[in-house]
Amino acid sequence: MSRKVLVTGGAGYIGSHVTVELIQAGYDVVVADNMSNCDMTCLEGARKVTGRDDIPFYRIDCCNPDSVRKIFKEHRIDALIHFAAFKAVGESVNSPLKYYRNNLDSFMSVLSAAAENGGCNVLFSSSATVYGEADKQPVTEQSPRKPATSPYGATKQMCEDILQDTVKAGIGIKGMALRYFNPVGAHPSALLGELPRGVPNNLIPYVTQTAIGKRECLSIFGNDYPTPDGTCLRDFIDVVDLAKAHVAAVGRMIDGKMKEDYEIFNIGTGRPVSVLEIVKTFEKVNGLKLNYRFAGRRAGDIMAIWADPSLANEELGWKASRSLEDTLKSAWAWELHLAGKNE
Ligand code: WQD
Repeated sequence: MSRKVLVTGGAGYIGSHVTVELIQAGYDVVVADNMSNCDMTCLEGARKVTGRDDIPFYRIDCCNPDSVRKIFKEHRIDALIHFAAFKAVGESVNSPLKYYRNNLDSFMSVLSAAAENGGCNVLFSSSATVYGEADKQPVTEQSPRKPATSPYGATKQMCEDILQDTVKAGIGIKGMALRYFNPVGAHPSALLGELPRGVPNNLIPYVTQTAIGKRECLSIFGNDYPTPDGTCLRDFIDVVDLAKAHVAAVGRMIDGKMKEDYEIFNIGTGRPVSVLEIVKTFEKVNGLKLNYRFAGRRAGDIMAIWADPSLANEELGWKASRSLEDTLKSAWAWELHLAGKNE
């Protein structure tokens, strides 16, 4: 019997990569997206990579319960993965109500539709941001969640709690939260990747846009941290590795292998890498010089965070496998593709 997964936010960066991996693992996928933070590039890319131009696509706002209900009426959904949310940390500080309304309403409307439909396996796209500035590295799933440092981070914590409480209510929802570290890179086909709107907040798109000349100079925010080279440390997880973790997680849920009705997993490499190492590695593997400067620290940044991914390794049978070099090559190939330079 075919197993069908609803991917909300499935036209976005991570959602489209997860769609590809699910289809290639034999799942049927239904995509819902309101296209507020992306265009059709990545979904088109997913169609090309999988050879499936029949992926059902609903252009809907997940905050509208009736729109979500319609999907459940038209498809037998075995699991749903919820990506549909705003995710810019800085923007969330300036527009908290936009973030609380969208990120909470969309999740609650999806959960309600799933519950009305007799229950469902629900996988939530969470973030390492829920840990804040952890006292001890690497962070495990038992590391305490610190008070959120942005409304974006607060919505991730709240959605985890909303999911856990919904599971506890015994209305047929089983739940899992995957806490991503820093998703980076692009699909090896260079047909889908990260497509930030406007000036990129995140490091890797800013690096590739500087390399291609769209940005003048990369500012490295702070080189006076007490870290080996003075720049921040992060756990950069390749987006294809991350997508494969979702396939493993969905399989665990649908095959009834969960040990608890609500589970949390860190999805990271377990390898701390500094911002300067990213820049140097990017230059080396792509054979180019990047124009960068050291600037002041960015407000809200934490100095270091990286995962202890052993629980996901053991329980999901998943482990990050792509090298940082290959990831940074894929990011550059994607930027060249966008510029039409490697058609
Ligand atoms: C990484 C490092 C910056 C840009 C956030 C969210 C997380 C997830 C990923 C959504 C930091 C430095 C960055 C630049 C720089 N969100 N940097 N120059 O802040 O670790 O995580 O994005 O998916 O939930 O919290 O990611 O890529 O913005 O920054 O020096 O132009 O790169 O200071 O040390 P971050 P990031």
